[in-house]
Amino acid sequence: MTQETVVRRSEPAPVAPPDPGRAVGLRVAGVDKVYPTRRGEVHALSGIDLDIGAGEFVSLVGRSGCGKTTLLRVLSGLLAPTRGTVEAGGRSAWVGGRRDDAVFAEFGLVFQEANLFPWFTVVDNVALPLKLRGVSRGDRRARAIELCATVGLTGFEDSYPRELSGGMRQRAAIARALACDPSVLLMDEPFGALDAMTRDRMNLELQQIHAVSGATVVFVTHSISEAVFLADRVVLLTPRPGRIRSITPVDLPRPRAAEVEATAGFGELVVALRRELDQED
Ligand SMILES: Nc1ncnc2c1ncn2[C@@H]1O[C@H](COP(=O)(O)OP(=O)(O)OP(=O)(O)O)[C@@H](O)[C@H]1O
Ligand SMILES: [Mg+2]
Repeated sequence: MTQETVVRRSEPAPVAPPDPGRAVGLRVAGVDKVYPTRRGEVHALSGIDLDIGAGEFVSLVGRSGCGKTTLLRVLSGLLAPTRGTVEAGGRSAWVGGRRDDAVFAEFGLVFQEANLFPWFTVVDNVALPLKLRGVSRGDRRARAIELCATVGLTGFEDSYPRELSGGMRQRAAIARALACDPSVLLMDEPFGALDAMTRDRMNLELQQIHAVSGATVVFVTHSISEAVFLADRVVLLTPRPGRIRSITPVDLPRPRAAEVEATAGFGELVVALRRELDQED
């Protein structure tokens, strides 16, 4: 296999946002990321070109160390690309080496660790982004309680993070990311530490949140089946340096029930992606 990108279909990305006015598309063009280290440079990403439609759900998969987190951080504005451009909603993220903060103002981020403040209750953690924006105490509490309901945490609003299970803490982290009505949700293995059953349930809930919010989602995972279940397209990265090896559209109808995993169409996609990953050995 060559390192060239395989695009299995040439039509534009499948996009069906319920609120197309709010969601924004993302575009990375010619992106390289080189980390300088004491032992020399690490070329983490090379020649990444990717257009993500407004409201689209894209899963990013690939071997450990292939650059998934790096790409997500570049998309989130936390990391400047060494070369290339990043745009959100048609607006350049970096101008003359400086980040345009307005581009990222409506981004929600969720990482593998929930990173909740242990001394705040669930509702206060969820409401924190609203507090930082100057929303009044009453309004932010009302919104945070609503968000707790969205992610299935009703009854735990006044609990502390230590009183929650791992899955519940991740739900709170998602609710916090949703607090500012993000137009883009970037998620780095948010369910990686959860048991399989909780993870399946979180996937169903995330699908619902995506449908209702209309946000553009980029979701990093090590699980091929999770990637296929959730995504409109699965982007497979190949390591050293990280490049896009393939982009696989997932044309399974939505909403998807857990049973979709037993269908032939789902199985074929998973097998094809696994085979590609295995070919890298
Ligand atoms: N801050 C950093 N400084 C130097 N090198 C880094 C840094 N962050 C990542 N790298 C290197 O860049 C490459 C890509 O790392 P990245 O974390 O993006 O991979 P990943 O696909 O997210 O891996 P995993 O699946 O294990 O999370 C790796 O070779 C890693 O060692
Ligand atoms: Mg990572």
